[in-house]
Amino acid sequence: MSPAGLVMSSETNREDDESQYQKGVKNLCEHGITKVPNKYVLPVSERPNTIFDHQPNLNVNFNLPIIDFAELQGSNRSQVLKSLAHACQHYGFFQLVNHNIADDVLSSMMEVSRRFFELPLEEREKYMSADMGSPVRYGTSFNQSKDGVFCWRDFLKLVCHPLSDVLPHWPSSPFHFRELAVTYANQTKFLFLMVMEAILESLELTTTKNKTGHDDDKDDNILEEFEDGSQLMVVNCYPPCPEPDLTLGIPPHSDYGFLTLLLQDEVEGLQIQFQEKWATVEPIPNAFVINVGDHLEIFSNGKYKSVLHRVVVNSMKSRISVASLHSLPFKSMIQPSSKLINGANPRRYKDTNFSAFLEYIASCEPKKKNFLESRKLN
Ligand code: OGA
Ligand code: NI
Repeated sequence: MSPAGLVMSSETNREDDESQYQKGVKNLCEHGITKVPNKYVLPVSERPNTIFDHQPNLNVNFNLPIIDFAELQGSNRSQVLKSLAHACQHYGFFQLVNHNIADDVLSSMMEVSRRFFELPLEEREKYMSADMGSPVRYGTSFNQSKDGVFCWRDFLKLVCHPLSDVLPHWPSSPFHFRELAVTYANQTKFLFLMVMEAILESLELTTTKNKTGHDDDKDDNILEEFEDGSQLMVVNCYPPCPEPDLTLGIPPHSDYGFLTLLLQDEVEGLQIQFQEKWATVEPIPNAFVINVGDHLEIFSNGKYKSVLHRVVVNSMKSRISVASLHSLPFKSMIQPSSKLINGANPRRYKDTNFSAFLEYIASCEPKKKNFLESRKLN
């Protein structure tokens, strides 16, 4: 049986019309397809729900650790820091609740994102760019100029720093997009700094309550470096897929920065690798899913894990997510903290210049953990 064909509404068979796929999956769906085109069909071993990772009982018992931000800022901080450390070591992921960002800031960002993808293609297409360094980039799949098999996702990437330089390039429609996205970007940046401060404390690198100014080790200034750090927002749109078992919204990958703060709507789709199986992250309304990126794994000298994750799609519902990726400034070196290297725990990663890293991901299919592997010592 042929796994897929393409049924389009017109008389022409567009199965081999590559340019059609470059316009994204939303556009494809609007042409009323009933089967997944071959371009999106993964080899059997890479499909979701193959016999290899069909673990019907797993999701029942899997719950991501939940960190209560209000509790973290209160008298129970030391206990919550232990939970945070445990989550970063054993899951690489946690959900953050009670984080102080107002519900309407989150719902407005979701809503305006949804409206962006509902704009006519001609409007969205204005932001298409092959330039990875562009301050705004609309596109499809993972890397549409390189991917052999496409994935079932359209995206809008927004560089957020320095804001005054990039803002004039951000989409001017839908109405209020810029102002809502700026508010959202600023508030998630502030939250990132607060969470990063807690993470440094959980690694026993700083005690913010005890700033003597005595030790001028680089690590003690890292929080200040983050204030001027890089931030990228990725708005993801996963339209309903007629044959969701044949493809993925995003293939297995890890995120590059220190932390990613992900806002997802109420539709399931994100799965993380846990004990060598794929586990679904249950949406919690208004919570952030936060994960350790490659740079934090390197900085923590391997203590905190940058975990593989992927997105599955479904035949019923469109799904939207907004990922906010944070790291040091582009000119910075990413290296293991000197305080986390000792006889018992030798240095595990080479130093990496951030821009060299960006060149690396632009040059290859950033699937799996290629990059992190390339930075490991022996
Ligand atoms: C990402 C990502 C997950 C999601 O954008 O890197 O992993 O649920 N997104 O959309
Ligand atoms: Ni990701």
